[in-house]
Amino acid sequence: MSLELRGITKSFGSLVANDSIDFLVGDGEIHAILGENGAGKSTLMNIVYGLTSSDSGKILVDGKELDIKTPADALAAGIGMVHQHFMLIPVFTVAENIVLGHEKTKRFGLLDLETAKEEIRRVSKEFNFDVDPDALVETLPVGIQQRVEIIRALIYDAKVLILDEPTAVLTPQETDELLRNMKSLRDKGTSIVFITHKLREVQEAADKITIIRRGKVVGTALPSASQEELASLMVGRPISLEVEKAQGKFGKPVLTIENLNIHDVTGRRLVKNISLEIRSGEVVAVAGVQGNGQSELAQALLGLQEFVDGKIILDGKDITGSDVRECLHAGIAYVPESRELDGLIGSFSIAENLILDLHDLPPYAKGPVMFPKVVAKEGDLRVKEFDVRLQNIQDPASSLSGGNKQKVVLARELSRPVKLVVASQPTRGLDVGSIEFVHERILAERDAGRGVLLFSTELDEVIALADRIAVMYAGEIIAIVSPETSRAQLGLLMAGVRPENKASA
Ligand SMILES: Nc1ncnc2c1ncn2[C@@H]1O[C@H](COP(=O)(O)OP(=O)(O)OP(=O)(O)O)[C@@H](O)[C@H]1O
Ligand SMILES: [Mg+2]
Repeated sequence: MSLELRGITKSFGSLVANDSIDFLVGDGEIHAILGENGAGKSTLMNIVYGLTSSDSGKILVDGKELDIKTPADALAAGIGMVHQHFMLIPVFTVAENIVLGHEKTKRFGLLDLETAKEEIRRVSKEFNFDVDPDALVETLPVGIQQRVEIIRALIYDAKVLILDEPTAVLTPQETDELLRNMKSLRDKGTSIVFITHKLREVQEAADKITIIRRGKVVGTALPSASQEELASLMVGRPISLEVEKAQGKFGKPVLTIENLNIHDVTGRRLVKNISLEIRSGEVVAVAGVQGNGQSELAQALLGLQEFVDGKIILDGKDITGSDVRECLHAGIAYVPESRELDGLIGSFSIAENLILDLHDLPPYAKGPVMFPKVVAKEGDLRVKEFDVRLQNIQDPASSLSGGNKQKVVLARELSRPVKLVVASQPTRGLDVGSIEFVHERILAERDAGRGVLLFSTELDEVIALADRIAVMYAGEIIAIVSPETSRAQLGLLMAGVRPENKASA
């Protein structure tokens, strides 16, 4: 099935998010959309899926004009979408989520729970998805949750599948699997719109590429284009994909973790006896496959885990047992893994989000008196510095594009005078230009004498920024190695092959 967009235009106030966009996805084609954070990619696809209305323009499927007002209209027309931010209901099972809303499918009419379960098993088997229809969504890792969204689209018989940054939260292995599945869907005739910031994925999977900048289509490219070419088309200037790092000057320890153990409510040990030291002027990167205790470790340092024993010392001061506010005020900058859940308050203004947790301290307040002008002025400075693309700083943070939300969190946390930066997946969802900037900024923190603890599933990022790499596996740090270590060696460590005995753990 082909999908054609003609002259799609959409404004939010004075901001033109989509400016007369023409776009054609052919039958059985993977068509990538590349564009900076805030370029208008999600807006365009939300219009196609009936989540947002356009101001003008036409949507044609197989040459026939359609009036899509709701996602149910889109599904009925054979268009499915997997969103940048998942839309599953955590307390429901996989099957319940899939029958939710009771949209009619082409094949089954109204889908009942039993049929849904059978279909989930069938699709799951066909694509090696390994999804249990009775599992509660909240217990599933993000990679699996995303498969649920894809399964939903397939069950509803999508012939055009829109994937909005589907790989942002996936491990490299999950990503490879998804790309394989996309190609096999394409070979069976499904047309796919693929939004991603990762140029390697575009080169690997796309048949065609359209580039959007500031709401306009600025060009097309073929996957044979180099990453540098794609990056500069996107951003409109040459981009260096290499990170330059000066020789480090390491000082005294800013963070000392001693024999840290973390348990969950059931008493299961998620982090096992971790001891680690980060010196001033040093970036220690924690590498590992997602789900090996990294998230819990990062949270524990900020007082966000309940069952913790061991010691956490920040710049000579014992902060074990402190709550998150105390940790932030003690001098830790924190970029959480999930900006949606922990980093931002969507209904607060962008300006307020830029000083969250500091709003009652000078210079923003004195005693009970707040100074909104100071807040706005500070906000303006940071927005400029971090190139946050927005319409008005008083708009709610929820109106920002995915990458720009991330930039707000970074702008807030990397502008405070702190001793230690704890950053989890800091460049997730950012475009290549912004990644370049954030990498420079993290190294600037290091060179200014702060300690940086970086959690990243991007091996390139780990190797580029780290002075030392701590590899986590099954809740333990199984090795601390230099960034000169080969990728193959790091891969083995991440798979749990310990340096001393080469047998798998
Ligand atoms: N509901 C809204 N109200 C106001 N502005 C909005 C709204 N939705 C989107 N925008 C603005 O429209 C622009 C395009 O946003 P969009 O989410 O389409 O970007 P994107 O290309 O998907 O970016 P990213 O790569 O960061 O996800 C942004 O400047 C965003 O702030
Ligand atoms: Mg987006």
